[in-house]
Order: sequence, then structure tokens, then C-alpha cells
Amino acid sequence: MKPSIYITRKLPDVCVAELKEKFDVKMWESEEIAVPQDVLLSEVKKVDALLTVVSDPVTEELLSVASNLKVVANMAVGYDNIDVEAATKRGIYVCNTPDVLTETTADLTFALLLATARRVVEAAEFTKEGKWQSWSPFLLAGHDVHHKTIGICGMGKIGEAVARRAKGFGMEILYHNRTRKPEAEKEIGAKYSSFESLISQSDFVVAMAPLTNETRHMFNAEVFRKMKSTAIFINTSRGAVADEGALYEALEQKEIAGAGLDVFEVEPIASDHPLLQLKNVTALPHIGSASIDTRMAMIHICVENIQRILTGESPKTLVNKSMLETK
Ligand code: DGY
Repeated sequence: MKPSIYITRKLPDVCVAELKEKFDVKMWESEEIAVPQDVLLSEVKKVDALLTVVSDPVTEELLSVASNLKVVANMAVGYDNIDVEAATKRGIYVCNTPDVLTETTADLTFALLLATARRVVEAAEFTKEGKWQSWSPFLLAGHDVHHKTIGICGMGKIGEAVARRAKGFGMEILYHNRTRKPEAEKEIGAKYSSFESLISQSDFVVAMAPLTNETRHMFNAEVFRKMKSTAIFINTSRGAVADEGALYEALEQKEIAGAGLDVFEVEPIASDHPLLQLKNVTALPHIGSASIDTRMAMIHICVENIQRILTGESPKTLVNKSMLETK
């Protein structure tokens, strides 16, 4: 019997053709609608590999019924949707898709920063809605980006790629990270800063840290209060690094000037969510890595990791590296 794979979202045939030659492949047949958890619970019982997306919760409960499962290949660099500890305990490899999405996600982060500062989305809607009556001095006037201070919280590869873009705009670059990045300091001119000083000095505070127990709600009411009243908060990492209730209050009370959000505590965010009612919020549907080339590259890595593991080779991009020590 061939090893079997369950793919939790419809992917292009060309991406799965190679897998289908060697393995039994079953795929959830919708691109937009997530596989219901009860379906996933029943499918996972039978398979050797799972290809998941960022919105699939791979919980301890799910893993506990997956008696043949050898690998979860997650189509994302982040893996906070997976209980990695529970997977490791059961000898299941967890793989992600780092590197290939770095520049694409940095592009989107910078696009969101520019769009929020210069009110691009609001201005485009205004024009299409026929509201434009005449040129006027402060019509949709926003905030400058060039030569302002950007504060990047979480200086991983994507953070550094954002910093390189900021350098091109002549920005002063501050960063906060668990470890210092001497290469980024030397090559990009980024300055290491304490979190406290970064949030109070930056015109643009950019959340780039992965979601962990330590980073959950790191942007809370107290933090927003310490930001400049002209500051713009950008989040392309995970929604839960910010307390959305506190963010709403800070925007509503004009403690900060705006927010550009690609990620939310609950996704998809409901259209009647208070944050979406604010003019000074630019909201996107978690599209940080969404270029066609990058999404194809991410799928390709997942496919490669699954093939490797099911044929006894080491995975290319492993999250739970301790698995290699125990093998
Ligand atoms: C990631 O890779 O973690 C993104 O959030 C999903 O594209």
C-alpha cells in the first residue's frame, strides 16, 4: 500500500502531480473554504502526511488520533497553528516554508506602511465613489514616510528585508530583537533599541515577531499609550501579538494615528468588527506572502518535505530540529 497524504486546501494540479505519482493523495476540494475540523479529524486518522495551511489548527487532539502521521508540512513560515511540542512527542516532523517568502512579505509590509501613511486605500475608494469635487490643499493628506523613524520589533529575515526597504526611503531604522544583529547594524545602519525606547521614538512601529507565549499581546494598552500620537502601527506577523481591544481604543482615542493590519486575532475578521469601522485602519486579508511565484514556491517546499520524509530522507526545512537528534 502506498503512503497517503491529505492536503487541507485545493492546490493547482501541477503542484500535486508529482505526489500523485508516488502516493495516495486526497485533497480538500475548496480553495476559499477551510476544511472543517471534524473532516480533518477523520482524515488524519488514515494518513502518513498532512499538508496544512496557516488557518488549520493542528492540535494535540488532532495529533492524538493520527496514528500513522509522520509529517505536517505547513504552508507558512509561521507555525503557531501547530502544537509542535505534541507533534515532537509523537515523533512527527513539522516543516515550514522559510526564506522563499522573505522578500515578498517585506514588499507587502512596506506597501501596507505606505498605504496607511498616505491613505492610499481611502483615496482610491474616494475617487471611485465619485466623491472628488476639486483639488484641495489638505484633501486626503497623510503622513510622510521618507526620513521618518521606523521601529521594527522582531528582526528576523523579514524584519531585515523591511529595514533594507526603509533604508531606501532614507528612514532612521530602530530594531528590537531577542538577539542583536551586528550584520544588519553594519549593512543597513539599523540601530538596536530597547522595546520601550523603540515604541516611544518610532513614527512607524512594525510588528514582525512570531507569535509565542512571550509575544502574545506584547502590544497592549500601555504600549500604545507610550507611542507618539502621530505613530502608525503596522502588523504583518500574527494578529495576537497585539491586543485588538487595546488597539481599537488607542486608535479611537487618537493615542496613535493609524494602523495597517494584514493579520487579526481571529481570521477571517468579521466585517462588523470595530477595527474595520475606523477610517484610520487599513486592513488586508493575511496576504503577506501572496504573490503567485512565492505561493508556488511555498507549495513546492511542502511537497518536497513530504516526499523526503516519506522516502526516508531528511526534510529540507524542519521546525522541530530535535527530531533529527532522536532518529
Ligand atoms: C506565514 O508564512 O507565516 C504567513 O503568515 C502565511 O503566508
